[in-house]
Amino acid sequence: MPGLLSSPVCLTVIWFLSLSLPPSCAQIQTDEVSGVQYGHLQWNVTLACGNSQISRIPVVWHLNNSAVLPWHKVTSDGRLVLLSVDQSAQGNYSCYDNSGLLLHSVNLRLGYPPGHLHISCRLTNHSHVRCYWRESVKTFLPATYSAFLMGKENAEWKACNIDVTHKHCDADDHNFYNTMHLLNVTETNALGSLSTYFQMRMFEQLKPDPPESVLVEKVEDFPQRLMVSWSYPSSWPKDRDWYTLKFQMRYRPQGSKYWSQIPTKENAVMIFDTLAGHLTEVEVRGMDAHISESQWSEWSRTIFGRPWEASTTPDPTVDPDVEFPEDFLFTTQPDSTTTKSYNVLEDEGNLALVILLVLFSMFILTSVLSLIFVVRMRRRQREHATKQELTSMVKMKAMPI
Ligand SMILES: *[C@@H]1O[C@H](CO)[C@@H](O)[C@H](O)[C@H]1NC(C)=O
Ligand SMILES: *[C@@H]1O[C@H](CO)[C@@H](O)[C@H](O)[C@H]1NC(C)=O
Ligand SMILES: *[C@@H]1O[C@H](CO)[C@@H](O)[C@H](O)[C@H]1NC(C)=O
Ligand SMILES: *[C@@H]1O[C@H](CO)[C@@H](O)[C@H](O)[C@H]1NC(C)=O
Repeated sequence: MPGLLSSPVCLTVIWFLSLSLPPSCAQIQTDEVSGVQYGHLQWNVTLACGNSQISRIPVVWHLNNSAVLPWHKVTSDGRLVLLSVDQSAQGNYSCYDNSGLLLHSVNLRLGYPPGHLHISCRLTNHSHVRCYWRESVKTFLPATYSAFLMGKENAEWKACNIDVTHKHCDADDHNFYNTMHLLNVTETNALGSLSTYFQMRMFEQLKPDPPESVLVEKVEDFPQRLMVSWSYPSSWPKDRDWYTLKFQMRYRPQGSKYWSQIPTKENAVMIFDTLAGHLTEVEVRGMDAHISESQWSEWSRTIFGRPWEASTTPDPTVDPDVEFPEDFLFTTQPDSTTTKSYNVLEDEGNLALVILLVLFSMFILTSVLSLIFVVRMRRRQREHATKQELTSMVKMKAMPI
C-alpha cells in the first residue's frame, strides 16, 4: 500500500536539542522547606549538617535512626559525602552533636535528571492535534511538563494543553493546513530540565478515528451475501462536501488467515462471496480521501455476521406424527441444499461400513490361513518323527544280536 509506505514516520524529520542544566547545580538541589534533598544516582552526594555556623562541631550522622550508613566519608567540617549512591542510600539522614542533640535532618531522594522524550502526534481531524510522549530515561523522581506548538508560518509558540497522567497534550488550530509545525515538550524535575523538539508536517499525522457503528446484515435468499454499513467517526467534521473519507472494508470467514478487501468511498458495501453458512469477520478503516500523505485509521472493532441460510432443522413445532394435508407436505419439502448435505452424510456412513466389512473379512481370512499353516506344520513334524522311529527300528533289527 503506497499510503502506508510513504508514512510520516519515514518522512518526518525529528531532531532533539538538549538544554539540560549543568549537573553541578543539579546535585545539591535542596528544598529547605520540605527537608528533602535530591541526588543523582551513581554520583557522590554531599549532605550538609545544617548551615555553616556549626561547621566546627564534630557531628554524628544517622540514617533512618540507625548508625549504619552506606559507603561514605565525613569531611572535617562535618559534611557527609555518600559515594556512588544507589537506591538503598535513600532515607532520612540526621546529624547530632557530641551530646546527642539533633542538629539537622534531611530526606534524601535519588534519581536521574530528565532524558529525551519520544514524541508522536496525531490529528483526529483537520483542526485538532494530540501529542504523546514517553521518557527514554526512568528518572524515579516527580516531574512537571510544559508543551508548546509553533506553526512555521506564524512563528509564535502556543500552549498545548497538558494531561500529566496520560502524558499527552491537545491543541486546536485552524491553520493546520499543510504547514510545518514544531512541538516543544520540556520535562523538569529536581535534578534538571530538558526540552525535546519534534517537527512534523501536520497532514502526515492526520489519522482519523476508526469508523463507528459497523453493522453486518444478512441478505434474504442469498447465502453468500452480507451487507456491511458504518458511519463516519464522530470526531470527523460534519461537512461532508469538504471533509470526505475513503474506506477499506475487509472480511474473512472466522478462523481464516486471509482477508479479502473492498475499497469504497461509500459508507456501505455488499459482500458477494462470503462462505455460505459461516460466521464472517468484518472490519473497516478510513482515511482522508484527498490528502494522500495522511494515514489510515486503525481498523474498527471486529464485527461478526452470518449470511442468510435456508433453515436446515425442521420446525420444532411440527409434529411428524400429525397428518398434514397433501399440499402442506408439498410446500415443506426440504430444498436442494439441505438434501445435498443429507446425502453426503449418508454416503460417508456407507463408505465406513464397507471399509469395516473388508477389514473384518481380511481378519477372518488371515486367521483361517494361519490355522491351516499351523495344522500342516504339526502333521509334517509328526510324519517326520514316525519315519525316524521306523528307520531306527529297522537299524536295530539289522544289528547282530
Ligand atoms: C566520589 O568521591 C571519591 C572520593 O572522594 C572520588 O574518588 C570520586 O572520584 C568521586 N566520584 C565522582 C563521580 O565524583
Ligand atoms: C529509610 O527509610 C526510607 C523511608 O521509610 C526507606 O525508603 C529506605 O529504604 C530506608 N533506608 C534504609 C537504609 O533503611
Ligand atoms: C527524620 O528523623 C528525625 C530524627 O529521628 C526526625 O525528627 C524527623 O522528623 C525525620 N524526618 C522525616 C521527614 O521523616
Ligand atoms: C476534532 O477532534 C476533536 C478530538 O477528537 C474533537 O473534540 C473535535 O470536536 C473535532 N472537531 C470537529 C470539527 O469535528
